[in-house]
Amino acid sequence: MNYLNINDKKLVPVVTEMNVLLADYTIYYQKLRSFHWNVLGRNFFDLHVKFEELYTDARIKIDEIAERILTLRYHPVSNLSKYLKMANIEEESPFIEDKEMVVCLLSDHKKLLEQMKITLDKADEAGDEGSVDMLGAYIGELEKASWMLDAFIKDSSDQLKKVNLERVS
Ligand SMILES: [Fe+2]
Repeated sequence: MNYLNINDKKLVPVVTEMNVLLADYTIYYQKLRSFHWNVLGRNFFDLHVKFEELYTDARIKIDEIAERILTLRYHPVSNLSKYLKMANIEEESPFIEDKEMVVCLLSDHKKLLEQMKITLDKADEAGDEGSVDMLGAYIGELEKASWMLDAFIKDSSDQLKKVNLERVS
């Protein structure tokens, strides 16, 4: 029974893009586990914990994305070999320095945000409010996580942009 008030054909581009997002998140998740295990140096305690926090969040989102695809009455892609072919995100060596790990994750976040926006646009075109709502929340959360990683790699003397508060009368 079709319990959705959405035409199945309109959902094909949504599900296609959402499967790419699922593949991206899976590669990103495994990378975070690798970085959690292999990070070395004076930032070990901070990054070991932060990477665990990020992969725990990613694990939840992977399940939610797959179950959203099922809610839309399609099968989610579930093979690792297929994820590697589909994903925008690539694997990374575990033997890179701590700051390089953070830079790599920031680059992955950019790709995840891009894929989320593509998927959200398709969902919007299909009138799929449930997916729009889920992805909109994900975007805000990932942007916040990106701010924190970006702050980590900055020097304490760095400055963010300032808004000019002087009003022209
Ligand atoms: Fe652990």
